[in-house]
Amino acid sequence: MSRLVLVHIGELVSVSGRAPRCGKEMDNLAVIRDGCVVIDDGIIRWVGTMGAYVNEKEHGDGPDTDVIDCTGKAVVPGFVDSHTHFVFGGYREKEYAMRMAGRSYMDIMNAGGGIVSSVSDTRRASYDALMASGGKRLDRMLAMGVTTVEGKSGYGLDMDTELKQLKVMKALNESHPVDVIATYLGPHAVPTEELMQASGLFSVHDSRWKDKDFRRKAYLDKVIEAILPKVCKEQLAAFADIFCEEGVYEVEDSRRYLKRAKELGLKLKIHADEMVPLGGAMLAARMNAVSADHLLAASDESIESMAVSGTIATLLPGTAFSLRENYADARKIIDKGAAVALATDFNPGSCPTQSIPLIIALAAVKMGMTTREILSALTINGACAVGLSDRIGSIEAGKDGDLLILEYPSIDFLPYHLGMNIIEKVIKKGKVYERL
Ligand code: NIG
Ligand code: FE
Repeated sequence: MSRLVLVHIGELVSVSGRAPRCGKEMDNLAVIRDGCVVIDDGIIRWVGTMGAYVNEKEHGDGPDTDVIDCTGKAVVPGFVDSHTHFVFGGYREKEYAMRMAGRSYMDIMNAGGGIVSSVSDTRRASYDALMASGGKRLDRMLAMGVTTVEGKSGYGLDMDTELKQLKVMKALNESHPVDVIATYLGPHAVPTEELMQASGLFSVHDSRWKDKDFRRKAYLDKVIEAILPKVCKEQLAAFADIFCEEGVYEVEDSRRYLKRAKELGLKLKIHADEMVPLGGAMLAARMNAVSADHLLAASDESIESMAVSGTIATLLPGTAFSLRENYADARKIIDKGAAVALATDFNPGSCPTQSIPLIIALAAVKMGMTTREILSALTINGACAVGLSDRIGSIEAGKDGDLLILEYPSIDFLPYHLGMNIIEKVIKKGKVYERL
């Protein structure tokens, strides 16, 4: 047996629980001073104070026990980045420059840039190239304390590339220390005529493809009839997601797609109410989706419905920052009693960053979240948003030994050291990764 014991933890914030922390519960976290955590074979065995640990005789430390002195350090659960698009080919740095010069994201998308240009690059990228770039991105995430990440397909808009992205995530989950939860996001954009033609999903070219609405319906039919069942049969995804937005997929499209995904056994997420209040968040609540994500324009009524249904509000402040949009109203969402998760939304277009420190800074400065709310959002609520809260998201006996040792004595240093990575050691399933 391999044992790791963290002793004399200056401030241990274990977060605790298996359900999402809603409303006030997000700020209500217990703190243990002079704490101790025992991890056996990668699983947390015991959590408490040093005093209680010393008094307990049955812990059975042996000569092989590794001990880390955490005097003057805070310890928290590993972060869960519950919304990313980290497997993609190519970058869109020119488009970013255009946005900084004043062009809007949707404008660029409607002019044939945006997601569609990443689709061409991802179709061209080999499996090995995506493995290499995806693996490097996971290394960077791990260094910032991410021990579990959700990743979406959606840069294929065909059968082969969507499966390629999902297979890359499956292989990375098996080979890389960071756990990867895969989401099928087939309806991420409406394919252009050229992309439809090259997708291999249609045997003949159709002159009606000039019409975007026609393409939207035709592609979504293929998603529902062919790709979604294949993804499920090959067990390549745990979640289904859709970009429900004006000019992309409508609420009715989303309902139809998600209904089928649910029947096939997938859990649901929605990119909802990002630019306009279309009704995606309300749909998420009605369909008992696990999360509704973005929510910059979500109505009060939909937020209230999410609080009732237990649908997690996954907020992505890096995207609002990069798009120069207003931030989601985290205060209102929390005050109405819903659960908030925070994630990067890392992708090559609207949010080209993997930086958890940036997300923490924006959540504090721009969204008015407290340190404890931020921590709940990045740990237990993120774990719930990826459907794994029985295994991760808090430091408790029986859960995976995923935790972070901070360089400083208090969790308040997380938002305080603006945009700085203050993770000193990452422990994933009991294995220690020194500051990387
Ligand atoms: O979550 N909103 C849609 N999808 C991504 C953007 C993807 C891209 O621009 O490549 C998002 O922001
Ligand atoms: Fe996204």
